[in-house]
Amino acid sequence: MGVGKIGLVLGLIFTLFSCSEVEQAKIQPGEIFKDIDGNPINAHGGGILLHEGTYYWYGEMKQGETWRVPYLDWECYRCNAGGVNCYSSQDLVNWKHEGVALAAAKIDLTHDLHTSKVIERPKVIYNDKTQKFVMWMHIDSEDYQCARAGVAISDTPQGPFTYLKSMRPNASMSRDMTLFKDNDGKAYHFYSSENNKTMHVSLLNDEYTAPSGKYKRILEMESREAPAVWKHKGQYYMISSGCTGWSPNPAQISICDSVMGDWKTVYDPCEGLDADKTFTSQSTYVLPNPNRKGEYIYMGDRWNKTNLEDSRYVWLPMTFEKGKAKITWHKEWNVN
Ligand code: GLA
Repeated sequence: MGVGKIGLVLGLIFTLFSCSEVEQAKIQPGEIFKDIDGNPINAHGGGILLHEGTYYWYGEMKQGETWRVPYLDWECYRCNAGGVNCYSSQDLVNWKHEGVALAAAKIDLTHDLHTSKVIERPKVIYNDKTQKFVMWMHIDSEDYQCARAGVAISDTPQGPFTYLKSMRPNASMSRDMTLFKDNDGKAYHFYSSENNKTMHVSLLNDEYTAPSGKYKRILEMESREAPAVWKHKGQYYMISSGCTGWSPNPAQISICDSVMGDWKTVYDPCEGLDADKTFTSQSTYVLPNPNRKGEYIYMGDRWNKTNLEDSRYVWLPMTFEKGKAKITWHKEWNVN
């Protein structure tokens, strides 16, 4: 082999080994999910937006030391609010870090997004009329007594989003939350309210930037949080957790014929070992499986309360059998 050819071969080997992009094919619930640069994905309490064939994953950036707020008598572990991260993917397995979609505020102590506050459970939907991406999130003080909802908008999915305001929607407390956009373009904000005892579903205005004023109290006195809402065969479904802080508890499915109807809590969809702890996770989002019609992907957080940055993701297939949602544990699975 001539010197030129050896150089070519060595060059090829070098390119192969120095290539930083790591192709992944499988989902391994509870393991570290890495982006295509090989860095751990930092997007907790997150949600997914499918826009023009690309999936965007938004989630809380949890970075640095975790501590327990000393003056509270419950396990209020927290770390500095890091803002909202955004990742993009074509296949839900290989994720590119798009950057920080909504940055935390570092200087202004009074700002909702200051690192000393709580920025949790961000969700993004697209408004076809205004052509804006609209993000809602839980905004709180470190003792979780502010209980507000924040709103931000952007012209592009990856941001940067412009923070608009926070509010107590319908003059009510708002903590864990999700957004649901229906086929008719109407969008709804579900939030744990009334000190987490009762949930509210609130129709958003046409711009999705504020409550419309029309809302309903649901799951009265059921103490549910971590809601994720989807539609299956014309019926509305919610998965939620009980209120035990960062510690896992049994999930429940609630169903309804219309978004603002009478939601009924019906059963725990998890089956098998650790089902009573939702496989050591807490719900955050449910996405239709693009490769298997009528099936869904359950997305949950496995919180590590004493090292929140090392919290993991538990994504599992959700099937429907005889009209009933079912989630079982898979050590490893393929979205295809
Ligand atoms: C619950 C909520 C989380 C977070 C923690 C704080 O787990 O679902 O989003 O607020 O409580 O303890």
